[in-house]
Amino acid sequence: MTARRDGARRYNLGAIAFHWIIAALVFIQLYVGWTFADMPRGDLRTGWFDWHKTLGFTILLLSIARLIWRIANPPPPFPAALQTWERVLARANHALFYIILIGLPATGWMYLSTGKPALTSSTTSLIGGLSWPFIPGLPRGAHEGFEEAHGLLVWLTCALLVLHVGAALKHQFVDRIGNRMLPSGAGGDS
Ligand code: HEM
Repeated sequence: MTARRDGARRYNLGAIAFHWIIAALVFIQLYVGWTFADMPRGDLRTGWFDWHKTLGFTILLLSIARLIWRIANPPPPFPAALQTWERVLARANHALFYIILIGLPATGWMYLSTGKPALTSSTTSLIGGLSWPFIPGLPRGAHEGFEEAHGLLVWLTCALLVLHVGAALKHQFVDRIGNRMLPSGAGGDS
């Protein structure tokens, strides 16, 4: 295959950078989330929670930027070897990932914006002395609903990750059609 055709079948470097940076942040964020949620209230928990919020809002901003990037740079076509059911599943999985990458931090933000601190302040603290605004005007009665939605989306994220990583491994080692999310030359012939 020529370099030109190979390039047309891969994601571009911007999409690849967004993918791997956000993927790494999500794995770290899952660890931070499960760690701080089980801690007793106190300074240690507050410190971990500041990291949770900072990572969460970073993921939110990067995911919005990634969505804009994707609209401006449509992804390459699926490899010809992919079955119809695999294409349908991949499209649904990718769409759900965008919903989650924006919905998960958004529900955390909404949960926080309807809690007690939002009654006396208009911002919440992040790492490095930064602060982030609460969303004004949300119904306080929905506080627990936002918490449940956040927890449900965490489990949906885990399920999608298993499906997504499983599919990538199948394409790499069973179908041998390579990985279009690796920089050119590293992912085999896709
Ligand atoms: C992609 C972004 C995010 C991921 C992957 C994530 C993940 C998690 C996880 C794994 C937990 C622990 C759930 C459990 O108890 O089992 C959690 C809890 C929590 N998250 Fe997030 N989170 C994200 C963004 C945010 C943001 C932006 C905020 C707030 C601004 C937030 C606020 C919270 C709060 C308040 C809890 C504790 C809920 C409780 O006390 O039960 N999260 N998150």
